[in-house]
Amino acid sequence: MSSLLVDNIGELVTNGAGEGPLGIRRDAAVLVEEDRVAWVGPSAYAPAADHHIDAGGAAVLPGFVDSHAHLVFAGDRAAEFAARMAGEPYTGGGIRTTVGATRAATDEELRATVRRLRGEALRQGTTTMEIKSGYGLTVADEARSLRIAAESSTETTFLGAHVVPAEYADRPDDYVGLVCGPMLAAAAPYAKWVDVFCERGAFDVDHARAILACGQAVGLGVRIHANQLGPGPGVQLGVELGAASVDHCTYLSDADIDALASNRIDCMCHEGLHTTTVATLLPGAEFSTRSPYPDARRLLDAGVTVALATDCNPGSSYTSSMPFCVALAVREMRMTPAEAVWAATAGGARALRRDDIGVLTPGARADLVVLDAPSHLHLAYRPGVPLIRQVIRNGVPQ
Ligand code: NIG
Ligand code: FE
Repeated sequence: MSSLLVDNIGELVTNGAGEGPLGIRRDAAVLVEEDRVAWVGPSAYAPAADHHIDAGGAAVLPGFVDSHAHLVFAGDRAAEFAARMAGEPYTGGGIRTTVGATRAATDEELRATVRRLRGEALRQGTTTMEIKSGYGLTVADEARSLRIAAESSTETTFLGAHVVPAEYADRPDDYVGLVCGPMLAAAAPYAKWVDVFCERGAFDVDHARAILACGQAVGLGVRIHANQLGPGPGVQLGVELGAASVDHCTYLSDADIDALASNRIDCMCHEGLHTTTVATLLPGAEFSTRSPYPDARRLLDAGVTVALATDCNPGSSYTSSMPFCVALAVREMRMTPAEAVWAATAGGARALRRDDIGVLTPGARADLVVLDAPSHLHLAYRPGVPLIRQVIRNGVPQ
């Protein structure tokens, strides 16, 4: 069995036992055996190992868990971004542009984009990345999108209900029938989750409920794009269906917050009580669409479990950077640096219903990030600076 010791860690964020909400341990070391954390303790008492990384007093965190990304697409929408920065609103209408480009692309072109973005994210500390379909919107194009996504991640999401494609514009019921029937059947073997864009201009609450229920019936977990562009029923639908996560949450009513907050369970893990349905906030989307940011403080103060993710996609948020999202969350959404780092690691894990990632405790997957900084605070304090010195994924230095 091969082992790796990371020692001389000035600040270790465990998200487990330790100081404060991040479970911080000082002057610590982590022993990795194969792909798992085998031991965490004081650096002075660290056991010997086959391989050794001296963190030199730097901070070490669990790898980021990006629980919301759309990586299977072709082309870009830089001109749409420029038009927005000149005053155009974001409506989601550009999704159909990307659908056209994606359908016209070869498998190899789509695969190259997924690999490029996955690599970009990894270099910025993301060790787990969810990948959605949603730019194919035919049976064959959704199935191939998920087949390609599954080559890079086990966290794959069927988003055939991203928008109603142009050829079904005047018969949305027929499109919902296609999504729930042959498209789901072709996609499900490659998907772990089902998702719907529940929004005015995309899918209404009845269509969204029907599609999510069909996905659930074939064993997929539920997540939902909700309340991004305006108030709506999406968040409460997500809670009703026991979704792992409701994503965006930009426009929330008191009833939405209550629905999320009242749905608490005791997970017997470090943080004890948490909400069944996580609110995943995607500040890259508000940044890139020049929209008001979600009120993270309101969710956190109500006791809702919050995750942060990139929403990486060519339209509303073309960033693969979790450190950038952490900095935005702190600066623009009134999260403390500790809350933002927790949400980008353990929070993302909760949103994917995973307890083996987002933490650095014995038995967890050995996904570690060594910062070029003495503390997690620097992720928000030094925005835009490449602070990821080394990434270890599945026990393997990258
Ligand atoms: O999560 N809101 C829907 N889907 C994506 C945007 C997709 C696009 O604009 O291409 C999102 O923001
Ligand atoms: Fe999204």
